[in-house]
Amino acid sequence: MSRIAYLECTKCGAHLSADQPQTICPKDGGILYVRYDLENLKQTFKRTSLASRPSTMWRYAEVLPDAQPVSLGEGFTPMLPSREFPNVYIKDEGLNPTGSFKARGMSAAVTMAKAYGLKKLAAPSAGNAASALAAYAAAAGIEAHIFMPRDVPLANRVECESYGAHMTLVDGLIGDCARMVAERKDKEGWFDVSTLKEPFRVEGKKTMGYEVAEQLNWKIPQGIIYPTGGGVGLLGMWKAFDEMEELGWIGSKRPKMIAVQSTGCAPIVKAWDEGKPSSEFWPNASTLAAGLRVPKPYGDYLILDILKKSRGVAIGVTDDEIMDAFRHWAEVEGVFAAPEGAASLAAYRKLRGRGFFSADDKVVLFNTGSGLKYLDAIEAQERQAGRRPATRQIGGIIGPY
Ligand SMILES: Cc1ncc(COP(=O)(O)O)c(C=O)c1O
Ligand SMILES: [Zn+2]
Repeated sequence: MSRIAYLECTKCGAHLSADQPQTICPKDGGILYVRYDLENLKQTFKRTSLASRPSTMWRYAEVLPDAQPVSLGEGFTPMLPSREFPNVYIKDEGLNPTGSFKARGMSAAVTMAKAYGLKKLAAPSAGNAASALAAYAAAAGIEAHIFMPRDVPLANRVECESYGAHMTLVDGLIGDCARMVAERKDKEGWFDVSTLKEPFRVEGKKTMGYEVAEQLNWKIPQGIIYPTGGGVGLLGMWKAFDEMEELGWIGSKRPKMIAVQSTGCAPIVKAWDEGKPSSEFWPNASTLAAGLRVPKPYGDYLILDILKKSRGVAIGVTDDEIMDAFRHWAEVEGVFAAPEGAASLAAYRKLRGRGFFSADDKVVLFNTGSGLKYLDAIEAQERQAGRRPATRQIGGIIGPY
């Protein structure tokens, strides 16, 4: 792990060694960030160094852990110019292995787990993190122990089963799953790769920030809209911008960071509106955007700080607005988004309506996953809304006509 200088607590600033697996700060439970010797790296690691690198997140190897990557080709996803809004880009994370941006975080976390010689990993998940952990653990020959709410999208469950993960379906939400992992991990010898409870998922997800800069030719956009559950990508991208500034790749300009949540589970929006530095548990969380059902994000203090520093905002959108945006992206852009991703368009529409962004502002909307992971949920929504004609069968031809 020579490339990592140390791990730093985001609360008390304590330094910890990365030579053995670490979780959170033992003093105050603060989230640990990986720090590199950027001053030194700056001499050799240049923007031009990237030219001949592979089209995966591991092209940024110098600012990732120095271990043999467990890779399935994650990252360097398309930055699609919107066909509807001239200055809007859709960062399509649905093209990652396992169909979501969770691949990035799990590629990094499992890479390090393997390097540390860990044999059993465990995580609670709203769905897509489970699929990604199961896939990368399979690729690494490591056991995955996964706890998911019983009503996760079908794809997540079927994927995990296929990858050979040990799965427990829980009558509850991600917090209940997390409790089960916490209660059993010591006895079972599991290493917990829960969101923000180990330092490397952020490292994987931060590569989205590097890609935003590189794919926009090092011109930082005015805004980034990010569907926020645990907020790992938001934290990661902000960290990436700071690192790139230290490397001399970009200046001090930052995008306004926008956290979008469903109004069915919006603890960050509530805390933001109330001017609080951390969130409160959101009771009875419910939204079709399963990845946004995180009633109390562990990194809330960091998310809210970034929104403030970037002069961004937290914004809530309803499930109806999400579905409307989902259909619109499919019909107008040819993008079949995850409901979480479609929330980005719903938020952009609202922010344009309010004048927060103008037509001239360059804004990146994150589609964090593929709609193909949600066929059951989408179909149920559309039927309920009367948008799916009953299928008729005429002489062997099945169709609505
Ligand atoms: C498709 C999708 N989008 C967004 C999120 C939220 O991600 P984060 O925890 O990084 O905020 C999730 C989490 O499960 C997800 O699966
Ligand atoms: Zn600390």
